[in-house]
Amino acid sequence: MRLPEAVLARIEEVAEVTVCGSQGPPSREQVIAGVRDVDGVLSSTVVPVDAEVLEAGQRLRVVSNFGVGFDHVDVGAATERGILVTNTPDVLTDAVADLTLGLMLALARRIVEGALLVREGRWIGWNVRLPLATDLSGKTLAIIGLGRIGTAVARRAQPFGLSVIYHDVRGEIAEAAGLATYRPFDQALREADIVSLHVNLTPETTRLIGARELALMKPVAFLVNTSRGPVVDQRALYEALRDGRLAGAALDVTEPEPPDPADPLLQLSNVLVVPHIGSATRETRAAMLDLAVRNLVAGVLGQRPPCLVNPEVWSKRRTP
Ligand code: DGY
Repeated sequence: MRLPEAVLARIEEVAEVTVCGSQGPPSREQVIAGVRDVDGVLSSTVVPVDAEVLEAGQRLRVVSNFGVGFDHVDVGAATERGILVTNTPDVLTDAVADLTLGLMLALARRIVEGALLVREGRWIGWNVRLPLATDLSGKTLAIIGLGRIGTAVARRAQPFGLSVIYHDVRGEIAEAAGLATYRPFDQALREADIVSLHVNLTPETTRLIGARELALMKPVAFLVNTSRGPVVDQRALYEALRDGRLAGAALDVTEPEPPDPADPLLQLSNVLVVPHIGSATRETRAAMLDLAVRNLVAGVLGQRPPCLVNPEVWSKRRTP
């Protein structure tokens, strides 16, 4: 990750800075060597911070994640070692929710297929040789995971005339009243015309959407994933789309990232894959970086960072 000079200067006010892998994601060896003798690490989803890395960082006080999802950090191992883990929630909620709606619209209205047709000189007149698209209005959107981003998606969906249902591991959520209606998981999948995934990646949500779940969905339904790639069984998704058992899918996240260009999923015309750009706007990335740096600096200085993932580490420090 290349840090702007002004951001580097903010960190340099409290610590000496070493940039690891300035030309792209650092190798594992670079990461292990880089965490030795440092008090804090600023990293992102492309760098796994597992138990071995944490073990190498004997002086580490804080791992500041540039992003909201922290599935690449072994939080349990960090907590055991008394290392604070932080993330950047809230500041990216609107950007990810905007992209989710964009993907829904692109899929339902065949926007990318249409644009490609024009670019390739295949536009022959008003009656284009493109299957007709689908209205969003009057359809049902199922949101799986009604957290910050899921809720922001539900708010945006309403003006499009979508009726919104949701499933969440917490069960029915009082604040969702008037915005979205709770459904058991299988029922949400069965009822929906669009299923949008907004869960954290955990052992429980890995392959949450597999062959069984895809079979529950309507053949006219769309799947949108802006959460994490491994939440979806990509092979099962490919087969469902190829066989016409699902109308289309839009993925901002894949497994692996980037995907193999030879992956047959990428060749399907009813699949839209974009390169993990949920938070990739100038404004949002600047706000994320600002928050990640505030988290890092606080952790290095022994202060409580604004966004702690493992607050129990902080409480333990306060009450010896
Ligand atoms: C996030 O913030 O979790 C984004 O997906 C980037 O990792």
